[in-house]
Amino acid sequence: MDDFTLDLADEAATIALGAALAQVMEPNLTIYLHGNLGAGKTTLVRGLLQGLDYQGKVKSPTYTIVEPYEVNRASQGAMNIYHFDLYRFNDEEEWESAGFRDYFNAQSICLIEWPERAAHLLPIPDIDVYILMQGVGRSVRITLHSQHARQCMQRLKQPY
Ligand SMILES: Nc1ncnc2c1ncn2[C@@H]1O[C@H](COP(=O)(O)OP(=O)(O)O)[C@@H](O)[C@H]1O
Ligand SMILES: [Mg+2]
Repeated sequence: MDDFTLDLADEAATIALGAALAQVMEPNLTIYLHGNLGAGKTTLVRGLLQGLDYQGKVKSPTYTIVEPYEVNRASQGAMNIYHFDLYRFNDEEEWESAGFRDYFNAQSICLIEWPERAAHLLPIPDIDVYILMQGVGRSVRITLHSQHARQCMQRLKQPY
């Protein structure tokens, strides 16, 4: 299925979804994370990194624009995760001068909060994730746009 929606009752459910995604994601993916401030985009990335056994702190890269992580998965070897937050991004020249374009490569997974702030600079996404507030919890809609994304996501185990 290329479009599905899940309920996330609490923060632990968002972390658990991130950890489940960590088990199936492979390099060479661009993932857009949509949702208002406080929706849970950074929380989802935190769960994904924890699922990859990253032990350190996962900070919001609102001021640094991007936070790089190198992680290992037994089956994959080293891979790079780049967590972008473009909420405060407003300098298109910085995109080139900082070399952000190079972060999107066959060895990396890029997760991007506020992609609409740099829409024409970004590669098109393999996956869109939309997080909506729903009562005290959240609902998350995931849409898949590439064959690579479908191949990864079909391994996602129930209940996800
Ligand atoms: N499924 C959920 N239900 C309720 N609260 C959640 C859920 N997922 C995350 N949260 C909470 O919502 C806030 C999300 O913050 P954050 O992940 O920084 O949001 P964003 O990056 O989208 O601005 C955190 O306080 C977190 O504890
Ligand atoms: Mg955030």
